[in-house]
Amino acid sequence: MKLFTARGKFLLPLFLLALHQIFSAEANPLSLASAAFSAIALSVSFVYKDQLSCYFAECCGKQWVDFNHTGFKEALAAKVYGQPLIGRLSEAVQEHWNNRHPAKALVLSLHGPTGTGKNYAVRILADHLFKRGGRSRYFHLFSATVHFPHSRLLDTYADQIHEWVRGNVSLCGKSVFVFDEIDKMPHSLLDVLKPFVDYHEHINGIDYRRAIFIFLSNSGSELIMRRMVELKRSGHDRSDTSNMAKFDHLLSEHVYSDNSSALRSSALLQHHLVSRFIPFLPLERDHVIGCIKDYLKASQPAHTGEKDLVDRVLNELPFVPNDERFFSSAGCKRIVDKTLMVLNDS
Ligand SMILES: *[C@@H]1O[C@H](CO)[C@@H](O)[C@H](O)[C@H]1NC(C)=O
Ligand SMILES: *[C@@H]1O[C@H](CO)[C@@H](O)[C@H](O)[C@H]1NC(C)=O
Ligand SMILES: *[C@@H]1O[C@H](CO)[C@@H](O)[C@H](O)[C@H]1NC(C)=O
Ligand SMILES: [Mg+2]
Repeated sequence: MKLFTARGKFLLPLFLLALHQIFSAEANPLSLASAAFSAIALSVSFVYKDQLSCYFAECCGKQWVDFNHTGFKEALAAKVYGQPLIGRLSEAVQEHWNNRHPAKALVLSLHGPTGTGKNYAVRILADHLFKRGGRSRYFHLFSATVHFPHSRLLDTYADQIHEWVRGNVSLCGKSVFVFDEIDKMPHSLLDVLKPFVDYHEHINGIDYRRAIFIFLSNSGSELIMRRMVELKRSGHDRSDTSNMAKFDHLLSEHVYSDNSSALRSSALLQHHLVSRFIPFLPLERDHVIGCIKDYLKASQPAHTGEKDLVDRVLNELPFVPNDERFFSSAGCKRIVDKTLMVLNDS
């Protein structure tokens, strides 16, 4: 009689109430049936209380939080242009997700020039981790210039981050925290994360090891750009991943030595707590054309077939280096403004 053990303290009074109703009713079949029915419904709702509340509101269970690795990989390949190394992002998440007892939280650091798809990839990740995507209560995005703009408030921010991470991970171990523009964060603020991403089984009873922390920044962009220009000049293509293999190694070395890098002097780096560095490469014309076409298809369907429109938008975008013009200097970032401008002018 499981009903009368664990949840007995709720069920017993209900049961007695139902009995009382049954016997105090004038024993007409209708009221008997309705009393019996309400007793059953009440008992069922108590036994399945958790499942019921998960049915109506987001909870940490599988029906709301479940990683779709295949879907994520496919979406990245279809939507994020020019990033042959991005598979490492889905691999890292998959490995961590499948591990029921990871040794520590997953910490990913995404680096690259602006407009290359870092934020976009993270949004796609949210869509494939949480049923509610980026609107999930377990997905947290902080932007340095919005949330942590004043370096004199370092201590306040550190307390906030500490409290938010603690509070949210205690609600759901599989929470995701994204810190955008970490190169613009007050120096050493990220150090507050160290205990949460270190090899601790738990801190005050809370296990942080299933959480995911993602850092986004432009640091390392010059290195990535320089290396890509060299490869391009010597006729190598980014899809030849043997050229790319050394990239994350170069990047992590660079992050350690770059004086301007937010991570350089951080405790996370010094204690090797960043699980992976993932480079985002500058975009070439064809990639930007892909972005422009996607945008037209999604937001300006009336103009998708228009001749020259894509070329006119491309002409508005700066490419570097000056003579060879290999790479869009803002990646796919400004295409919405530029397309609207071109459409207005015509
Ligand atoms: C995972 O994503 C793929 C591709 O979007 C989709 O076909 C599949 O139904 C998804 N699986 C689950 C369990 O949602
Ligand atoms: C969870 O994080 C959000 C910020 O994303 C914060 O506003 C909220 O208070 C946190 N919740 C808990 C329970 O700490
Ligand atoms: C960083 O600063 C040190 C001195 O503080 C200097 O020796 C080193 O060359 C600098 N490194 C870079 C990559 O600028
Ligand atoms: Mg950005």
